[in-house]
Order: sequence, then structure tokens, then C-alpha cells
Amino acid sequence: MTEKKRVLSGMRPTGRLHLGHYFGVVQNWVKMQEEFECFYMSSDWHALTTDYADTSKIDENTFEMVADWITAGIDPRQVVIFKQSRVPYHSELFLILSMITPLGWLERCPTYKEQIQEIKNKDLNNYGFLGYPVLMAADISLYKANFVPVGQDQLAHLELTREIVRRFNNFYGNILIEPKEYLAKASKLAGLDGRKMSKSYDNSILFGEEDDVLKEKVRKMFTDPLKIKKTDIGHPEGCVVFSFHKVFNKEYIKRHDECKAGSIGCVLCKKQLMELLSEFMKPFTRKRREIITDKAYLQNVISEGSQKAIEVAYKTMFEIRQGLKF
Ligand code: TRP
Ligand code: SF4
Repeated sequence: MTEKKRVLSGMRPTGRLHLGHYFGVVQNWVKMQEEFECFYMSSDWHALTTDYADTSKIDENTFEMVADWITAGIDPRQVVIFKQSRVPYHSELFLILSMITPLGWLERCPTYKEQIQEIKNKDLNNYGFLGYPVLMAADISLYKANFVPVGQDQLAHLELTREIVRRFNNFYGNILIEPKEYLAKASKLAGLDGRKMSKSYDNSILFGEEDDVLKEKVRKMFTDPLKIKKTDIGHPEGCVVFSFHKVFNKEYIKRHDECKAGSIGCVLCKKQLMELLSEFMKPFTRKRREIITDKAYLQNVISEGSQKAIEVAYKTMFEIRQGLKF
């Protein structure tokens, strides 16, 4: 039997997940746990790069997020769920990697340039924010991960990780592993208003949303503005409700045709979506409610996972110190 390849991924603890997270990321994490040896991390130190002025929510957010992971089907007996700040080696390797990372690599990083431009409500002019990808490189390298499931937005960071790893191995011997991205096909879900689903746009449906809230949100979903009456010819391609039917309704092709033919109205179309969504969500909402109230269980999952992570990270760190002749 060949050994399982290793996977590491992380998420900044920003609180409860929405359906965009679920379909875009977490569902893949669930699938990967069978085939790979998985490490899933709450990257609370990364959260600090933007939320350093108010840290009061970070820990609570980790609980909420881990509860959602488990609700989604991530099995703590099978994967290692851990908290970055519990494994101090991340900071040790971060320091070492930061010594060999040319400033230009970081300054040229497209996500860095973009965020400095776009995020105006937070002060990002700090050393830690520039070094964000170096900390990611440390996260990945400590576990010698072969694959990193990331979204399109993190690809540049992964490329940087590989460059840093190559440079490191050049200096100190073949110790670290160049990770590959694992781009699973993710079904993209739009937000209620058709923009990308995001907490900051206030257009998201939470994973494990309570039924009454869920229905209210579907009621508010954008439809085709040109379709007023049932008999109007609709344009499903531009309709948010239809984009959800595509994910939740097996007979979405039929819906597409009915909408275009003017044989269904938006009220009924939404009502059917409500039912489908509600059915999909119910078991998750129930499970989540149980998990989130069992703080001791969650605490235990995180503690045990972090302990396992420490053991693996320690081994790598030992080799690294030897490589550096320390
Ligand atoms: N940077 C990632 C994000 O913002 C989170 C993250 C931190 C991560 N360390 C990681 C992802 C290591 C993959 C691997 O979403
Ligand atoms: Fe959208 Fe359905 Fe209305 Fe067509 S009938 S515009 S798919 S809500």
C-alpha cells in the first residue's frame, strides 16, 4: 500500500460559513478526506493581519467555523483539525523563510497590490501583511503538504510558496516539498443580489441557516427585472433564482424552458426553490445546532488536532534546524 499524499489547507476564522464557502471550498475538503491525509487549519495568525486592532472575535470565530466544518461532514477522527497559533513552529519557520524571501517577490504579489488598493477601512500598511504569503509558505511546508486545495484567489500565494521552497532547498538541502494546487471543480453560487456571495456585501445565505430566515432570503433574491407577469418571456441566465435552481433542482433544464416560454411566474419559481433549499439545509441546521452548543467537544477536537499537528511540525522543524546547522 502506498502512503497517502498529504493535504494542508487553511481558512481565516471569520465566523460562520455561507453557502459560497460550502460549495466553493468545504465540500471539496470533505471529499478529500478519504483519499488524502488532511490537515485543516484555522489560521488565526492570518486573521491578525487584518483584525489586529480588534481580536475579540477571532477565537469565537474559530469555534463557529470548526462547527461548520464538522457539520459539513469533515470527520475529526479522520483529519487533523487544528489552530495555527497552537503550533508555535509556524512562527519559527515563518521567521526563517522571511530571511530568504526577497522583498520584491512580496511587493509584486498581485493579491498584495490589489488588497492595498481595495481595502480602505483597515490599515494594511504593516510588515505582517506584506509577509502574509511567507506565513502561508510556512504553514504548508511544515506539513510537507503535496497538495493545497485553494481557490483561484490564492494561486499566486501558492506559486510564491513554491519559489520560496526552491530557494530554501537550494541553500539548505532538499528538505521542503513544492506543493501543487488542487483545483477541484467548484460550483459557484452567487449572492442574493447576483454579486459574489460575501459577508461584506450582506448578500449571503449561511450554511445552517434557520428555515424562516432562509425563506425570507429567497423571497428577496433578485430575478429577471424584465419578467413581471407570469406570461412574460424570462431570461433565466441572468436570474439569481435560476442560478440556485441549477444547483438544487435536478430538473433545472425544464425550469429554464418554462421561464423562457412564460409558463411559470417568479413567485411560484421562488416558492419551489425555498422548498428545495429548505430540504437541503434542514439536516445541516439541526446538526450544527447540536455541535455549536457542545463547546467541550469542539475544544477537544481543536486540542487533539493541534497536538497531532505539533508532532508532525516538530519533525519537519528538526530537519530544518539540521539543514541550517543549528
Ligand atoms: N490565506 C488563506 C485565505 O485567506 C488561508 C490560509 C492560511 C491558507 N494559510 C494557508 C490556505 C495555507 C491554504 C494553505 O483564505
Ligand atoms: Fe427567475 Fe424563475 Fe422568474 Fe424565471 S421564473 S425569472 S428563473 S425567478
